[in-house]
Amino acid sequence: MVIRTGFLSCLVITRLCISPELIEWKESRGSLAKVGTMAENLTLIRLAIEHRPLLLSMLEDYQTAGEQFLSQPLLEQLQTDFAALVQQLQSEEADRNLPDGKVPQSTLWLMRNSAELLGRVNLRHRLTPALEHHGGHIGYCIRPSRRGQGYGTKMLALALDEARRLGLSKILMTCDVDNLALARGIEKNGGVLVSQGVSDVSGQLIARYWIAL
Ligand SMILES: CC(C)(COP(=O)(O)OP(=O)(O)OC[C@H]1O[C@@H](n2cnc3c(N)ncnc32)[C@H](O)[C@@H]1OP(=O)(O)O)[C@@H](O)C(=O)NCCC(=O)NCCS
Repeated sequence: MVIRTGFLSCLVITRLCISPELIEWKESRGSLAKVGTMAENLTLIRLAIEHRPLLLSMLEDYQTAGEQFLSQPLLEQLQTDFAALVQQLQSEEADRNLPDGKVPQSTLWLMRNSAELLGRVNLRHRLTPALEHHGGHIGYCIRPSRRGQGYGTKMLALALDEARRLGLSKILMTCDVDNLALARGIEKNGGVLVSQGVSDVSGQLIARYWIAL
């Protein structure tokens, strides 16, 4: 009886000490088995030299899915001159040598547990008439094998924090009307639909959302 009480109190302490948000436990034949995973640490990072293997793994994911990942010049830099790719992204963010019509943008990557890159978000620091029409402040994507697991919505929330740090007070996003996952992610982050129209860029029907920060 004493032993049983001890076991139960140990069980209670274990359950109290470990937040249910962190670990799911299930009782099985009188013992405990871990069925969930430790809480994920999701952060937005800027690319650095040591991230090359993680980015190559992300590229493989896109190639398997038959999707384009990066623009051709960036793809070549990833394969042949990664330092140049990192430098290029830094220059875009710092407003160095930007081509006409381009505004500074931060390219941020969703990192999971310091071990995997899940997605990429581009945050334009200001709008141009072209971006007001199509593109807005933010565009993002999640690697194919990790879609539909809530990461896009979380990454957008983190990108909005970054936009606040930049001093922006509202964010414009545009979205193909048939991209339901993107539209839902925008709405869950406070996006308010303001207009719809055919894009001069893609010829598709797109929706425009503002998100107040
Ligand atoms: C659009 C995209 C970024 C969304 O990221 P994601 O991680 O897959 O989205 P989430 O898992 O956060 O899902 C967001 C919401 O959409 C819903 N959703 C996800 N996939 C869906 C689908 N195929 N159809 C309908 N709804 C979907 C989810 O259920 C969720 O809503 P809920 O929280 O109410 O359940 C991702 O699918 C992607 O990279 N697509 C290709 C690139 C792209 O379209 N980028 C946008 C251009 S800016």
